[in-house]
Amino acid sequence: MANEALLIKHTGSGKQVEYPILSASMGADTVDIRALHKDFGCFTFDPGFIATASCKSKITYIDGDNGTLLYRGYPIEQLAQHCDFIEVAYLLMNGELPDATQLRNFNEEILDRATIHESLRKFFDGFHYDAHPMAMSISVVGSLSAFYHSDLDIRDPVSRRVCAARLLGKMPTIAAASFRHSVGRPFVYPRIDLGYCENFLNMMFSRSSQTYIDQNHYIDPEFVKALNLLFILHADHEQNASTSTVRLVGSTGANPYACISAGIAALWGPAHGGANEAVLTMLSEIGNVDNVPKYIARAKDSNDPFRLMGFGHRVYKHFDPRATILRSMCHDILKKTRSNDPLFELALAIEEIALKDDYFIEKKLYPNVDFYSGIIYKALGIPVDMFTVMFAIARTAGWVAHWLEMMGDASSPIGRPRQLYLGPEQRDCVAIKDR
Ligand code: CMC
Repeated sequence: MANEALLIKHTGSGKQVEYPILSASMGADTVDIRALHKDFGCFTFDPGFIATASCKSKITYIDGDNGTLLYRGYPIEQLAQHCDFIEVAYLLMNGELPDATQLRNFNEEILDRATIHESLRKFFDGFHYDAHPMAMSISVVGSLSAFYHSDLDIRDPVSRRVCAARLLGKMPTIAAASFRHSVGRPFVYPRIDLGYCENFLNMMFSRSSQTYIDQNHYIDPEFVKALNLLFILHADHEQNASTSTVRLVGSTGANPYACISAGIAALWGPAHGGANEAVLTMLSEIGNVDNVPKYIARAKDSNDPFRLMGFGHRVYKHFDPRATILRSMCHDILKKTRSNDPLFELALAIEEIALKDDYFIEKKLYPNVDFYSGIIYKALGIPVDMFTVMFAIARTAGWVAHWLEMMGDASSPIGRPRQLYLGPEQRDCVAIKDR
């Protein structure tokens, strides 16, 4: 749409100004309205950023109407089939898939940084045993900024890359440590001879603090494959709430570990990454198939705050391609683990009823990635309160890629939205004795 423009006319003064339309390489073009306030003295009102592009990005593309998700141009279905998570993390950060040498070096770079400082490890002792693992992850990742601050130069691309590798390396260690703390088991040190997902499963489930699981329990390669797939599907999703948070905090020049900690906090909410945990809580609450109609009716009642967790998406309006991949994987994993989990049967019953219901059809509400991911995590033996932490490990790949992209663009301004002020007009304050 080069050279096209959007003409805005003020109906009061008759003044009109053309605003340039910036061409996207795929998908919707964007009107550059940065001069609007200068031209007309007013702002645009767009709570929830329904129609606002907050940045330019080359990382991820989503077409919500057609259920398309591309990382750096590659369809998510192909990446899920041909790659492991670390290859995808490399792709997100660097723009291209690695060759064998690049992948080996990147793997080493990440796993070399998986160990956490002994003092940081002791932070976990300060948490009560029932602290939520997301709360511990937010705090401990944020605390990395206390270990890496004074010698960090965020204007230096090499230093930024080290931060990104450090975050990718340490996230699984911190996540597993938060789980071990909550169940009172000793911390397991990372093993650099294992793959990324295998090492994580070992740190989670090893019986002692030193061994590789133990002689009678080995890590099932199918589980490693499943985890890789889940991590790939969750690795990035363009300007979602947590990634936008990382960018907003990062735009002030803040310490990158503090930025990622803010991203984890944003992810925790049930409308975002916390939905995978909320789905399991909801399924337990519904209890059995007979109760499904009652809960569907509640979800449709605008006076009832209950929503079907794992349904609906701001961008996907026909199907979530990640959910399509996970749905079939759900069957495979449950067959493999021989887990006749009644919650999965219940989930399928909800899905079937909701997909035929006029309310859900009209509002274009379909199962999203989190509807199935929790069920798979449960089958893999991951505790329910760790589900969103799993999402955070994977999404760290996207967060660091976006942070690197933003920091590499010298023209990125500080994020600073405006508002429609509806408070009192200016008035005088009097001392309490005169009120
Ligand atoms: N159950 C029942 N009604 C719903 C649901 C739902 N899950 N989701 C949306 N609606 C209704 C909503 O009440 C509204 O109705 P009305 O037009 O009468 O006001 C309409 O559909 C549009 O919803 P919205 O909240 O304006 O849509 P949104 O784009 O702002 O929100 C959402 C998207 C994902 C926050 C929302 O669909 C939701 O809360 N879903 C449940 C939570 C969930 O599964 N979140 C995970 C998202 S995928 C993981 C990720 O990428 O973070």
